Amino acid sequence: MGKDVIIACDFASAEELFGFLEKFGEKRPYLKIGMELYFKEGQSLVKKLKEKGFKIFLDLKMHDIPNTVRKASKIIGALGVDMTNVHASGGKRMMEEALLGLKEGASEAGLEPPILIAVTQLTSTDERMMNNELLIEKKMEDVVKHYAELAKEAGLAGVVCSPLEAPMVDNMYLLSVTPGIRLLGDSVDDQKRISTPEGARKMGSTYIVVGRSITAADDPVYAYDKCILEFCL
Ligand code: C5P
Repeated sequence: MGKDVIIACDFASAEELFGFLEKFGEKRPYLKIGMELYFKEGQSLVKKLKEKGFKIFLDLKMHDIPNTVRKASKIIGALGVDMTNVHASGGKRMMEEALLGLKEGASEAGLEPPILIAVTQLTSTDERMMNNELLIEKKMEDVVKHYAELAKEAGLAGVVCSPLEAPMVDNMYLLSVTPGIRLLGDSVDDQKRISTPEGARKMGSTYIVVGRSITAADDPVYAYDKCILEFCL
């Protein structure tokens, strides 16, 4: 599995996103499109980006009954994205149906299905909240490991996790997609468990997701190249 840097495109509109991408000239970085941009701009934005040659991680974090997730996944499978995700807390059957839906949609469109990964626990959920509010009275590490095992049993390729959890995920022969990345000297913002791109490489992340360290940099292309140099080479 090729290592890569994925830019989290947390922009309010397609116009803002294309203004940002202009700076990259002929470069075609891997992009993460999340709910905000997708709900605003829909499939047409994704298709436009694919036509221009960008790889897309469609970060919609699906979580619903298995039948609904299968039908929704079929639509995403036909869209031609490279990666997408579901919540592991939806259960093994839901993840299996998501995988089937993606394969059906892709096959009908004559495409390869996207890589499917699972969200284990959101980084906004800490152990206390998980224990007291969600009533999952376990250690965070054990819950992440259990959800990663469920994802593996369902046939998924990997999980979204903190770079600090990447070694455990690597040991399970799953790929890891890790947000919470900052270049040295950058603001930590609201992230808690962070790493540099170099640290993530050493911990065995497969993909790093980098938002503000690139999108809010004075020179985003320089910051992106620095991430590639530290993480991929
Ligand atoms: O700007 P920053 O690098 O913090 O952005 C990280 C991106 O990764 C955001 O799009 C955020 O929603 C996403 N993400 C995360 N933690 C997760 C899952 C996704 O930070 N567990």
